[in-house]
Amino acid sequence: MEIVPAPTRDAAVALTAKLIESRLRDKPNLVLGLATGRTMEEVYARLVASGVSFARCTTFNLDEYVGLPPEDPNSYAAYMRHHLFDHVDIDPARINLPDGMADDLSVAAADYERRIAGAGGIDLQLLGIGEAGHIGFNEPLSALRSRTRDKILTPVTRAQNAGMFGGDPDAVPKRALTMGVETILESRELVLLASGRAKASVVAKAVEGPLTARISASAIQLHTHCKVILDDEAASDLEGLAYYREVCRNEEKWDPYRSLL
Ligand code: F6R
Repeated sequence: MEIVPAPTRDAAVALTAKLIESRLRDKPNLVLGLATGRTMEEVYARLVASGVSFARCTTFNLDEYVGLPPEDPNSYAAYMRHHLFDHVDIDPARINLPDGMADDLSVAAADYERRIAGAGGIDLQLLGIGEAGHIGFNEPLSALRSRTRDKILTPVTRAQNAGMFGGDPDAVPKRALTMGVETILESRELVLLASGRAKASVVAKAVEGPLTARISASAIQLHTHCKVILDDEAASDLEGLAYYREVCRNEEKWDPYRSLL
């Protein structure tokens, strides 16, 4: 795991977008795992502005609310159209999100796993982290070997996401269909982005704390090709921050991104 502390939120977002852009330029038929949420909005805005082509890219979103059709403005399908898909040259046939409207969610979950496998697996999975320590919607005590399935959202997550639902946590759907922790870990590369003081404590638990199903994001410690990009606030509770900065300063691979570090 590499911790990449950026000085500001803008720099952390720009670095994340540049990494995705560079993977897309190197491999135009990239299989890209996507996340939603406030943190990612500016990442997508920068990707759109970069002009990079998504024409041959296949995408898989981490999760979707159960019971919200893709036309619902609060669905993650709508979020993705609004922030990314409507503004790039992606082939709609290559866009994949879990089907939160399926009659049988376990069938839809198994189908999602099959589609990921059929695409050859995910090359790069973008992740945020929830205040409850989740990646995707793998709420506390999600098995570290879990696959795509439906999960009941915690009150912490529903409060975190209430902004999109008129500020009312009770209006946030109670369930979501989400990639499992193991599904995520099977991606060939992970990039987790976190910003803001509200994430500092959970970020420290996830990357420096013990591996535990209580914080599903701690499972990224098992991944051999994982970057955690943080702004100054999200990094502020890390005990090893000085060392992580030192590592980045000395790694040549970060040279092209020096202005952002
Ligand atoms: C979204 C997702 C979540 C979010 C996380 C952070 O698809 O899977 O894990 O990445 O809840 O959300 P924000 O960025 O809104 O703080």
